[in-house]
Amino acid sequence: MARIMSGVQPTGNLHIGNYLGALVNWVRLQDQYEAYFSIVDLHALTGRPEPAALRHAVREVAIGVLASGVDPERATVFVQSHVPQHTELAWVLTCLTPLGDLNRMTQFKDKSQHQPDNINTGLFTYPVLQTADIVLYRADRVPVGEDQEQHLELARETVRRFNHVYGETFPEPQVVKSSAPRVMGLDGESKMSKSRNNEIGLFETADETMLKLRGAKTDPARLRKTDKGTPEVCNIYSYHGFFTGEVQRAAIATGCRSAQLGCVDCKKLLAQNLEVVKGPIRERAAVLREQPRRLEEILAAGAHRARAEAEKTMVLVRERVGLGAPRS
Ligand code: TYM
Repeated sequence: MARIMSGVQPTGNLHIGNYLGALVNWVRLQDQYEAYFSIVDLHALTGRPEPAALRHAVREVAIGVLASGVDPERATVFVQSHVPQHTELAWVLTCLTPLGDLNRMTQFKDKSQHQPDNINTGLFTYPVLQTADIVLYRADRVPVGEDQEQHLELARETVRRFNHVYGETFPEPQVVKSSAPRVMGLDGESKMSKSRNNEIGLFETADETMLKLRGAKTDPARLRKTDKGTPEVCNIYSYHGFFTGEVQRAAIATGCRSAQLGCVDCKKLLAQNLEVVKGPIRERAAVLREQPRRLEEILAAGAHRARAEAEKTMVLVRERVGLGAPRS
C-alpha cells in the first residue's frame, strides 16, 4: 500500500483553512493509503511558545485532527517529538542541503518578518526537518495546502540528492492538493493563518463565527444594502463556494447582484452552513476533551507504530551514510 504523510503545527487552534486545505484530504486518503499524521511540536518550537501553551496546543490540535474524522485505527496519529528519529534524520539531511536552497524559501522570509526578534536557526532549517518528517516514513504523497508547495519541492530535491549520493533509498514525495488549497483570511487580503489573526476557528460556535463575520470585508464597491454587488470579488462569497450547496449559492449570487440580499443576511447564511460542518466537529472534540486518558492512549499507540517504522528507515539510512556500529 502506498503511503501518505502530513503534519500540522500546534500553534493555536485549527482553522477552516487547515480543515479545507489539508484535513479533508487526510480523512479522504486514510482509506486509500497507509497514513502517518503528525502534530509537529518540534516545528512549533521555532516560535518559542510558552511550555504549558505548547503542551495544551498539542492536545487541542490532536483533538481537532481526530474530531475532523481522522481515524486512529486506520491512520497513525502521533506527536513528532515522541519519535526521536525525526531529528536524527533531519541532521543527516541538513548536511546534504545547500545553504542557497534554504535561502530561497519564502516562508522563512515571511516568518522572519513576522518575528524579527527571534530569527533563530530552526526557522531557517525548518524545511529540512519537514523533509525528514516525510521521508522517514518513505511517503509517496503529502496532502497539504498551497503554502507548503515550495517546501515539498525542496523535499523532492533532497530525496534526489540523497538517492544520488547514497543509492536509491526514498521515493520522491508528491503534493496532494485539496479543492481549497489557499483559503483566504477574513481580512480578504492574505491567506487564512493563525499568526495573522484572520481565521475562522474550527471549534468556534455559530455565534462566535457570526461575530467575526460581521466585521469581515465583502465586495468593497458595495457600501449600502441598496448597492448592487459582484459576488465574484467578495471574500464571503468565496467561502460560500466551500460550504454552500449549488442551488443556494446561485440564489445568493442573484440576490447580491440585484441588491435583494444584503451582506449581513448573506453572512448569516454562511454562518449557518459553516455550523453544519463545525457543529459535529465541535461536539466530537468536546467528547474527546472529557477523555484525556483515551487521547493519551491514542497518541502513545501512534508514536509506538511511528517509531517502529521510523527505526526501520533509520537502520537503512545509518548504513547507507556510514553511521552506527560496523557490521560484523
Ligand atoms: P501548518 O500547521 O501551517 O498548516 C497545516 C496544514 O494546513 C494547510 N493550510 C492551509 N490550506 C489552505 N488554506 C490556508 N489558508 C491554509 N493554512 C494552512 C497547510 O498547507 C498545511 O497542509 N510546515 C507545515 C507542517 C509540517 C508538515 C510536515 C506538513 C511539518 N512537517 C510534513 C506536511 C508534511 C505547517 O506549518 O503547516
